[in-house]
Amino acid sequence: MDTSFDMFIETEVPENELIISRTDLKGVITYVNETFAHISGYEPEELIGKPHNIIRHPDMPRSLFADLWETIRAGKTWEGYVKNLRKDRGYYWVYARVSQVIKDGEVVEYKSLREPVPREKRIEMQRLYDKMRSEEEGTSRVVMYVRNKDIERLKPLDLF
Ligand SMILES: Cc1cc2nc3c(=O)[nH]c(=O)nc-3n(C[C@H](O)[C@H](O)[C@H](O)COP(=O)(O)O)c2cc1C
Repeated sequence: MDTSFDMFIETEVPENELIISRTDLKGVITYVNETFAHISGYEPEELIGKPHNIIRHPDMPRSLFADLWETIRAGKTWEGYVKNLRKDRGYYWVYARVSQVIKDGEVVEYKSLREPVPREKRIEMQRLYDKMRSEEEGTSRVVMYVRNKDIERLKPLDLF
């Protein structure tokens, strides 16, 4: 059984700070701000030049990203809840808005702006994404939530 406990440590996303990344048209990171790098557990220079899926969390349903790419390629803004994987295998939740960057009438890059997600919404989205993943992949995983009274933080415990 392959379990690593540190995968379940949640990082709180700061309020009132810009959380930005940009990619080229193939999804390779071209820019991140300090806050984005920090909550992802990387230095900015470790992320630039890497595909954005470097922080894809295995809990994210595939169909969501298919929808994201279809939406932004069509010139629309994609909005949604994203659980991201930190370098230390921990995670954080954001509400992301992804859209085109247009220069001289041409799409040159994509950008994403993110904001924190309230705790109750995180739980709701975790349940929804678990359900979506099991429908997509035909695999199931039990995710259990326990409230740690000492640190007043919610930690999921995964049972494989
Ligand atoms: C501007 C921009 C920002 C993105 N931000 C994230 C992100 O924060 N987390 C993530 O998992 N995928 C993000 N993606 C989607 C990834 O490019 C990728 O599609 C996703 O991680 C799934 O990986 P896959 O396409 O290799 O299956 C972003 C894409 C773009 C264009």
